[in-house]
Amino acid sequence: MIEAQGLTMIYGNGHKATDGISFNIHKGEIVGFAGPNGAGKTTVIKMLTGILRPTEGTAVINGFDINKDPLNAKRSFAYIADNPDILIQLTGLEYINFIADMYDIPTEDRAPKIDELAERFDMKDALNTQMRDYSHGMRQKLMVIAALVHNPPAWILDEPMTGLDPTAAFELKKMMREHAKVGNSVLFSTHVLEVAEQLCDRIIIINKGRIIEQGTLDYLRLEYPDRTLEEIFVELTGKSE
Ligand SMILES: Nc1ncnc2c1ncn2[C@@H]1O[C@H](COP(=O)(O)OP(=O)(O)O)[C@@H](O)[C@H]1O
Ligand SMILES: [Mg+2]
Repeated sequence: MIEAQGLTMIYGNGHKATDGISFNIHKGEIVGFAGPNGAGKTTVIKMLTGILRPTEGTAVINGFDINKDPLNAKRSFAYIADNPDILIQLTGLEYINFIADMYDIPTEDRAPKIDELAERFDMKDALNTQMRDYSHGMRQKLMVIAALVHNPPAWILDEPMTGLDPTAAFELKKMMREHAKVGNSVLFSTHVLEVAEQLCDRIIIINKGRIIEQGTLDYLRLEYPDRTLEEIFVELTGKSE
């Protein structure tokens, strides 16, 4: 369960990037957070995950307020950032172990999990190489593996498909579906509508820092008949471009 309540972010330069964003992602749901570049998706995700403190509003993950009870909140979700270029002097395996240490995952539990994930993402041979020598897609896959080693009940993914090759994107989408199916919550941002259309139970569309529409794909098709999701999206967000 992911709960955003009135999340507003005014950056230091006075720019109001988001304005009163509220939504709930229930257990068993995959929700796509769609919007054009600069809409405020990353800002909302950073407030949900405790990287940014909201100017106003609250974020509660699995019952834990991210700012009042950050340790418990952070243990209960996996987060994939939009930029995989961190700590690249570490090898892939060192980075995974660094994350697994933070989550107190016992060594005997993590080895089989790392093995399984590395196999799925075709990263076994790369684990002992420094991440500085990885391609963007490999870094992204490594971030996915590290985030999923502790397999918590909520996943919060910022543009997770960007830079992944088709096989890795396919695997990740499959895993997102599997994860939601067994009763977990998955929220991912995307500026690519096809990805949202393939995966989501529900879509939240954000533009200029505000939610302008949300609902199931069926609802959107009923509400905006005879249009593809992409056409609906352009119609809703394009006016301001
Ligand atoms: N650190 C920052 N300081 C000032 N403005 C920012 C900062 N980060 C993002 N913004 C602005 O906030 C808006 C939303 O950005 P962002 O959340 O990254 O959008 P998205 O992820 O949807 O592309 C944009 O106008 C962006 O330029
Ligand atoms: Mg972004």
